[in-house]
Amino acid sequence: MKILVTRRLPETVMRRAHALGATIHDSDVPLTSDARSEALQTYDAILCTLGDRFSSDMFAEPTRCKIIANFGVGYDHIDAAAARAAGVEVTNTPGVLTDATADLAMTLMLMVLRRASEGERLARSGDWTGWTPTQMLGRGVTGATLGIAGMGRIGQAMARKAHFGFGMKICYTARGDKALDFLADRVDLQTLAETADVLAVHAPGGAATRHMINRDVFEAMKPTGILINTARGDVVDQKQLIAALQSGAIAAAGLDVYEGEPDIPAELRALENVTLLPHLGSATLEVREAMGNMALDNIEAFLNGRQVPNPV
Ligand code: DGY
Repeated sequence: MKILVTRRLPETVMRRAHALGATIHDSDVPLTSDARSEALQTYDAILCTLGDRFSSDMFAEPTRCKIIANFGVGYDHIDAAAARAAGVEVTNTPGVLTDATADLAMTLMLMVLRRASEGERLARSGDWTGWTPTQMLGRGVTGATLGIAGMGRIGQAMARKAHFGFGMKICYTARGDKALDFLADRVDLQTLAETADVLAVHAPGGAATRHMINRDVFEAMKPTGILINTARGDVVDQKQLIAALQSGAIAAAGLDVYEGEPDIPAELRALENVTLLPHLGSATLEVREAMGNMALDNIEAFLNGRQVPNPV
Protein backbone atom coordinates (compact mmCIF):
# COMPACT_ATOMS: atom_id res chain seq x y z
CA MET A 1 0.00 0.00 0.00
CA LYS A 2 1.39 3.39 -0.96
CA ILE A 3 0.87 6.29 1.44
CA LEU A 4 1.75 9.94 0.81
CA VAL A 5 2.19 12.58 3.52
CA THR A 6 1.94 15.98 1.83
CA ARG A 7 3.77 18.13 4.39
CA ARG A 8 6.40 18.12 7.13
CA LEU A 9 4.75 17.06 10.40
CA PRO A 10 6.01 16.88 14.01
CA GLU A 11 9.00 14.54 14.41
CA THR A 12 7.18 11.73 16.25
CA VAL A 13 4.46 11.63 13.61
CA MET A 14 7.04 11.60 10.81
CA ARG A 15 8.73 8.60 12.49
CA ARG A 16 5.43 6.71 12.65
CA ALA A 17 4.65 7.59 9.01
CA HIS A 18 8.14 6.38 7.98
CA ALA A 19 7.53 3.11 9.84
CA LEU A 20 4.35 2.67 7.77
CA GLY A 21 6.47 3.09 4.64
CA ALA A 22 4.93 6.44 3.71
CA THR A 23 6.47 8.80 1.20
CA ILE A 24 6.85 12.15 2.91
CA HIS A 25 6.93 15.49 1.11
CA ASP A 26 9.23 16.85 3.82
CA SER A 27 8.50 20.52 3.24
CA ASP A 28 6.37 23.38 4.54
CA VAL A 29 5.48 24.30 0.96
CA PRO A 30 2.26 22.71 -0.31
CA LEU A 31 2.40 20.41 -3.34
CA THR A 32 1.24 21.98 -6.61
CA SER A 33 -2.24 21.22 -7.84
CA ASP A 34 -0.75 19.01 -10.60
CA ALA A 35 1.24 17.05 -8.01
CA ARG A 36 -1.91 16.55 -5.92
CA SER A 37 -3.84 15.30 -8.96
CA GLU A 38 -0.99 12.92 -9.77
CA ALA A 39 -0.89 11.75 -6.15
CA LEU A 40 -4.54 10.70 -6.42
CA GLN A 41 -3.48 8.33 -9.22
CA THR A 42 -0.28 7.11 -7.54
CA TYR A 43 -1.07 6.52 -3.86
CA ASP A 44 -3.65 4.43 -1.99
CA ALA A 45 -3.82 6.89 0.90
CA ILE A 46 -2.99 10.58 1.22
CA LEU A 47 -2.45 12.45 4.48
CA CYS A 48 -3.00 16.09 3.56
CA THR A 49 -3.64 19.36 5.36
CA LEU A 50 -4.84 22.95 5.08
CA GLY A 51 -3.79 24.47 1.77
CA ASP A 52 -3.88 21.12 -0.06
CA ARG A 53 -6.94 21.79 -2.21
CA PHE A 54 -8.72 18.73 -3.62
CA SER A 55 -11.43 20.17 -5.88
CA SER A 56 -14.23 18.26 -7.61
CA ASP A 57 -12.46 18.17 -11.00
CA MET A 58 -9.63 16.16 -9.42
CA PHE A 59 -12.09 13.32 -8.82
CA ALA A 60 -13.41 13.26 -12.40
CA GLU A 61 -11.06 10.38 -13.33
CA PRO A 62 -11.10 7.15 -11.27
CA THR A 63 -8.44 7.42 -8.56
CA ARG A 64 -6.07 4.85 -7.08
CA CYS A 65 -6.38 6.78 -3.80
CA LYS A 66 -9.18 5.48 -1.57
CA ILE A 67 -8.68 7.63 1.53
CA ILE A 68 -7.73 11.26 2.13
CA ALA A 69 -6.94 11.73 5.81
CA ASN A 70 -6.95 15.41 6.63
CA PHE A 71 -4.57 16.71 9.31
CA GLY A 72 -7.04 19.23 10.77
CA VAL A 73 -10.68 19.45 11.73
CA GLY A 74 -11.71 21.90 9.00
CA TYR A 75 -11.81 20.26 5.58
CA ASP A 76 -13.28 23.00 3.39
CA HIS A 77 -10.23 22.58 1.08
CA ILE A 78 -11.48 19.10 0.12
CA ASP A 79 -14.63 18.60 -1.95
CA ALA A 80 -15.83 15.78 0.28
CA ALA A 81 -19.01 15.16 -1.73
CA ALA A 82 -17.04 14.73 -4.97
CA ALA A 83 -14.53 12.51 -3.16
CA ARG A 84 -17.30 10.33 -1.74
CA ALA A 85 -18.94 10.04 -5.16
CA ALA A 86 -15.58 8.86 -6.52
CA GLY A 87 -15.30 6.26 -3.75
CA VAL A 88 -12.67 8.17 -1.75
CA GLU A 89 -13.15 8.25 2.03
CA VAL A 90 -12.34 11.59 3.74
CA THR A 91 -11.45 11.79 7.43
CA ASN A 92 -10.48 14.63 9.80
CA THR A 93 -9.13 15.19 13.32
CA PRO A 94 -11.94 16.52 15.55
CA GLY A 95 -11.70 17.00 19.31
CA VAL A 96 -7.95 17.05 19.88
CA LEU A 97 -7.59 20.72 18.90
CA THR A 98 -10.76 22.04 20.54
CA ASP A 99 -9.19 23.52 23.69
CA ALA A 100 -6.09 24.85 21.93
CA THR A 101 -8.22 26.71 19.37
CA ALA A 102 -10.62 28.02 22.02
CA ASP A 103 -7.61 29.13 24.09
CA LEU A 104 -6.30 31.09 21.12
CA ALA A 105 -9.70 32.73 20.62
CA MET A 106 -9.59 33.74 24.31
CA THR A 107 -6.03 35.04 23.81
CA LEU A 108 -7.14 37.21 20.89
CA MET A 109 -10.19 38.45 22.78
CA LEU A 110 -8.15 39.48 25.82
CA MET A 111 -5.43 41.02 23.65
CA VAL A 112 -7.98 43.12 21.80
CA LEU A 113 -9.99 44.14 24.88
CA ARG A 114 -6.82 45.17 26.72
CA ARG A 115 -5.03 46.57 23.65
CA ALA A 116 -2.09 44.24 24.26
CA SER A 117 -0.72 44.39 20.68
CA GLU A 118 -0.65 48.18 20.74
CA GLY A 119 0.96 48.09 24.19
CA GLU A 120 3.56 45.58 23.07
CA ARG A 121 4.41 47.70 20.03
CA LEU A 122 4.81 50.78 22.26
CA ALA A 123 6.95 48.97 24.82
CA ARG A 124 9.25 47.65 22.08
CA SER A 125 9.48 50.98 20.26
CA GLY A 126 11.52 52.69 22.96
CA ASP A 127 9.02 55.60 22.84
CA TRP A 128 7.17 54.80 26.05
CA THR A 129 7.42 57.83 28.31
CA GLY A 130 5.94 56.21 31.43
CA TRP A 131 2.69 55.29 33.18
CA THR A 132 -0.18 57.75 32.95
CA PRO A 133 -3.75 57.46 34.28
CA THR A 134 -5.25 57.69 30.79
CA GLN A 135 -2.81 55.76 28.65
CA MET A 136 -4.10 53.01 26.37
CA LEU A 137 -7.33 52.37 28.21
CA GLY A 138 -8.90 49.10 27.17
CA ARG A 139 -12.17 47.47 28.09
CA GLY A 140 -13.05 45.02 30.83
CA VAL A 141 -13.98 41.41 30.25
CA THR A 142 -15.95 40.55 33.40
CA GLY A 143 -19.68 40.89 32.81
CA ALA A 144 -19.28 41.64 29.08
CA THR A 145 -21.39 39.68 26.59
CA LEU A 146 -19.72 37.16 24.31
CA GLY A 147 -21.67 36.28 21.17
CA ILE A 148 -20.66 32.95 19.65
CA ALA A 149 -21.51 32.47 15.97
CA GLY A 150 -21.41 28.69 15.61
CA MET A 151 -21.80 26.68 18.84
CA GLY A 152 -19.90 23.53 17.83
CA ARG A 153 -17.10 21.94 19.88
CA ILE A 154 -14.78 24.95 19.72
CA GLY A 155 -17.56 27.53 20.22
CA GLN A 156 -18.73 25.65 23.33
CA ALA A 157 -15.18 25.38 24.70
CA MET A 158 -14.69 29.14 24.32
CA ALA A 159 -18.10 29.84 25.87
CA ARG A 160 -17.24 27.70 28.91
CA LYS A 161 -13.84 29.35 29.39
CA ALA A 162 -15.38 32.82 29.02
CA HIS A 163 -18.39 32.11 31.24
CA PHE A 164 -16.83 30.16 34.10
CA GLY A 165 -13.34 31.67 33.93
CA PHE A 166 -14.12 35.30 33.13
CA GLY A 167 -17.75 35.84 34.21
CA MET A 168 -18.96 36.67 30.70
CA LYS A 169 -22.59 36.40 29.60
CA ILE A 170 -23.04 34.15 26.57
CA CYS A 171 -25.38 34.31 23.61
CA TYR A 172 -25.05 32.23 20.47
CA THR A 173 -26.32 31.13 17.10
CA ALA A 174 -26.18 27.48 16.07
CA ARG A 175 -27.45 24.93 13.62
CA GLY A 176 -29.37 22.06 15.23
CA ASP A 177 -30.14 21.54 18.93
CA LYS A 178 -27.41 22.08 21.49
CA ALA A 179 -27.52 20.59 24.99
CA LEU A 180 -25.33 23.06 26.89
CA ASP A 181 -24.09 22.64 30.45
CA PHE A 182 -23.98 26.40 31.06
CA LEU A 183 -26.39 29.32 30.76
CA ALA A 184 -26.52 30.85 27.29
CA ASP A 185 -29.18 32.59 25.20
CA ARG A 186 -29.85 31.22 21.74
CA VAL A 187 -30.62 34.12 19.38
CA ASP A 188 -30.61 34.94 15.66
CA LEU A 189 -27.56 36.45 13.98
CA GLN A 190 -29.00 39.98 13.96
CA THR A 191 -29.67 39.87 17.73
CA LEU A 192 -26.25 38.32 18.32
CA ALA A 193 -24.61 41.21 16.46
CA GLU A 194 -26.66 43.81 18.32
CA THR A 195 -26.07 42.26 21.77
CA ALA A 196 -22.47 41.07 21.75
CA ASP A 197 -19.59 43.12 23.11
CA VAL A 198 -17.35 40.49 21.55
CA LEU A 199 -18.54 38.45 18.56
CA ALA A 200 -16.49 35.28 18.11
CA VAL A 201 -16.75 33.27 14.89
CA HIS A 202 -16.68 29.47 15.25
CA ALA A 203 -18.55 28.34 12.13
CA PRO A 204 -16.92 25.96 9.65
CA GLY A 205 -15.76 27.46 6.35
CA GLY A 206 -17.03 26.61 2.89
CA ALA A 207 -19.96 27.56 0.66
CA ALA A 208 -22.63 27.30 3.38
CA THR A 209 -21.03 29.90 5.66
CA ARG A 210 -19.19 32.14 3.15
CA HIS A 211 -19.51 35.80 4.20
CA MET A 212 -21.99 34.91 6.94
CA ILE A 213 -20.38 37.80 8.86
CA ASN A 214 -20.97 40.65 6.43
CA ARG A 215 -21.82 44.34 6.21
CA ASP A 216 -25.29 43.79 7.74
CA VAL A 217 -23.66 42.19 10.76
CA PHE A 218 -21.08 44.98 11.15
CA GLU A 219 -23.84 47.60 10.85
CA ALA A 220 -25.85 45.84 13.56
CA MET A 221 -22.85 45.59 15.94
CA LYS A 222 -22.19 48.22 18.62
CA PRO A 223 -19.51 50.77 17.69
CA THR A 224 -17.63 49.40 20.69
CA GLY A 225 -18.03 45.83 19.35
CA ILE A 226 -15.12 43.51 18.69
CA LEU A 227 -14.87 40.66 16.16
CA ILE A 228 -12.74 37.57 16.82
CA ASN A 229 -12.17 34.96 14.08
CA THR A 230 -10.24 31.75 14.63
CA ALA A 231 -12.45 29.67 12.29
CA ARG A 232 -11.99 30.28 8.56
CA GLY A 233 -11.24 33.54 6.77
CA ASP A 234 -14.07 33.23 4.25
CA VAL A 235 -16.77 33.13 6.94
CA VAL A 236 -16.11 36.88 7.27
CA ASP A 237 -16.41 39.32 4.35
CA GLN A 238 -12.88 40.68 4.78
CA LYS A 239 -13.35 43.77 2.58
CA GLN A 240 -16.40 44.78 4.61
CA LEU A 241 -14.54 44.05 7.85
CA ILE A 242 -11.73 46.39 6.81
CA ALA A 243 -14.31 49.07 5.91
CA ALA A 244 -16.06 48.62 9.27
CA LEU A 245 -12.75 48.92 11.15
CA GLN A 246 -11.70 51.98 9.13
CA SER A 247 -15.03 53.78 9.57
CA GLY A 248 -15.36 52.95 13.27
CA ALA A 249 -18.56 50.93 12.67
CA ILE A 250 -16.91 48.41 15.00
CA ALA A 251 -14.07 49.06 17.44
CA ALA A 252 -11.53 46.33 16.77
CA ALA A 253 -10.82 42.80 15.60
CA GLY A 254 -8.61 39.86 16.50
CA LEU A 255 -7.92 37.54 13.60
CA ASP A 256 -6.11 34.22 13.22
CA VAL A 257 -7.50 33.39 9.75
CA TYR A 258 -7.94 35.35 6.51
CA GLU A 259 -9.61 35.22 3.13
CA GLY A 260 -6.92 34.26 0.63
CA GLU A 261 -4.51 33.11 3.39
CA PRO A 262 -1.52 33.51 3.71
CA ASP A 263 -1.95 36.93 2.07
CA ILE A 264 -3.08 39.56 4.54
CA PRO A 265 -4.16 42.77 2.80
CA ALA A 266 -1.98 45.83 3.46
CA GLU A 267 -5.07 47.83 4.57
CA LEU A 268 -5.66 45.28 7.34
CA ARG A 269 -2.00 45.21 8.38
CA ALA A 270 -1.98 49.03 8.55
CA LEU A 271 -4.79 49.20 11.12
CA GLU A 272 -3.86 49.84 14.78
CA ASN A 273 -7.14 48.37 16.05
CA VAL A 274 -6.49 44.80 14.88
CA THR A 275 -4.49 41.98 16.39
CA LEU A 276 -3.26 39.60 13.71
CA LEU A 277 -1.93 36.08 14.18
CA PRO A 278 -0.73 33.60 11.52
CA HIS A 279 -3.30 30.78 11.89
CA LEU A 280 -2.01 29.47 15.22
CA GLY A 281 -5.29 28.00 16.57
CA SER A 282 -4.08 24.42 16.96
CA ALA A 283 -0.37 25.24 17.13
CA THR A 284 0.88 23.40 20.21
CA LEU A 285 3.25 20.45 19.93
CA GLU A 286 0.93 18.10 21.84
CA VAL A 287 -2.04 18.99 19.67
CA ARG A 288 -0.18 18.75 16.38
CA GLU A 289 1.19 15.33 17.43
CA ALA A 290 -2.32 14.21 18.34
CA MET A 291 -3.65 15.46 14.99
CA GLY A 292 -0.93 13.59 13.11
CA ASN A 293 -1.54 10.38 15.02
CA MET A 294 -5.28 10.64 14.48
CA ALA A 295 -4.79 11.08 10.74
CA LEU A 296 -2.49 8.04 10.66
CA ASP A 297 -4.98 6.02 12.78
CA ASN A 298 -7.59 6.72 10.11
CA ILE A 299 -5.26 5.59 7.33
CA GLU A 300 -4.19 2.45 9.19
CA ALA A 301 -7.78 1.51 10.01
CA PHE A 302 -8.82 1.99 6.40
CA LEU A 303 -5.93 0.05 4.92
CA ASN A 304 -6.57 -2.81 7.37
CA GLY A 305 -10.21 -2.99 6.35
CA ARG A 306 -11.57 -1.55 9.61
CA GLN A 307 -14.11 1.26 10.05
CA VAL A 308 -12.26 4.62 10.01
CA PRO A 309 -12.61 6.38 13.39
CA ASN A 310 -13.21 9.89 12.02
CA PRO A 311 -15.10 9.98 8.72
CA VAL A 312 -16.34 13.48 7.83
C1 DGY B 1 -8.06 23.00 11.50
O1 DGY B 1 -7.82 21.96 12.11
O2 DGY B 1 -9.01 23.10 10.74
C2 DGY B 1 -7.19 24.18 11.75
O3 DGY B 1 -7.59 25.31 11.08
C3 DGY B 1 -5.75 23.85 11.49
O4 DGY B 1 -5.37 23.27 12.65
